[in-house]
Amino acid sequence: MQKMNLKHYEQTIKSMTKTPELNDWRLTIGLVKPNSRVLSIGCGSGREVKYLVEIGCNVTAIDIDPECVRLSKEIEPNAKYIVGDALNLNIDIKFDYVICLNRTINYLLDQQDKVNLVNKMYSFLKPHGRLIISTTHFFSSIKSMCVSVLPTRTKLGYYPRPSQIGKWFEGLEGEIFTSKIDSTQVILLKK
Ligand SMILES: C[S@@+](CC[C@H](N)C(=O)[O-])C[C@H]1O[C@@H](n2cnc3c(N)ncnc32)[C@H](O)[C@@H]1O
Repeated sequence: MQKMNLKHYEQTIKSMTKTPELNDWRLTIGLVKPNSRVLSIGCGSGREVKYLVEIGCNVTAIDIDPECVRLSKEIEPNAKYIVGDALNLNIDIKFDYVICLNRTINYLLDQQDKVNLVNKMYSFLKPHGRLIISTTHFFSSIKSMCVSVLPTRTKLGYYPRPSQIGKWFEGLEGEIFTSKIDSTQVILLKK
């Protein structure tokens, strides 16, 4: 990673963790400012789309699974939806935030696909836009560390190691902040 300044980011997370009912997903989505233009990668069944629309955001959401998009539309019709592979996304809009939450990036088993996805998401950011990714935290459990050293898992990178995550951001301009919340690793890139 190019630059890591944990202090500021962890302070933000710590102040948010004072609210006990919040889980890691809520803490992560809480980084998005109201009334922003947001691209949600792997929107799933729409919980983040709904939350973001409720705080006034203009949301475009993509998921590879048509059933997920159908469910998401059902709970939040006031967003733009795309069914497709985010790796092939080609739209001419720039966003304040691009978010890829709850381990969606782990669905891309190939390390190079993860690098390509991060580059793709970065390309949709406005100047000073923010990319937020949450993934598994390598040191969250003995299990994650054991599984990640098995030859198949190492290749697939389901529990990406810090060095692998660093490679996702190589060559991208911006400041990077990371934090661990339970078993989740949150990464924020400020362009
Ligand atoms: C773990 S779910 C996360 C859903 C949602 N972000 C949330 O936090 O509730 C991951 C989602 O990513 C979608 N997905 C996986 N690979 C994708 C790809 N290449 N392009 C777009 N969506 C993808 C899956 O269909 C799934 O709905």
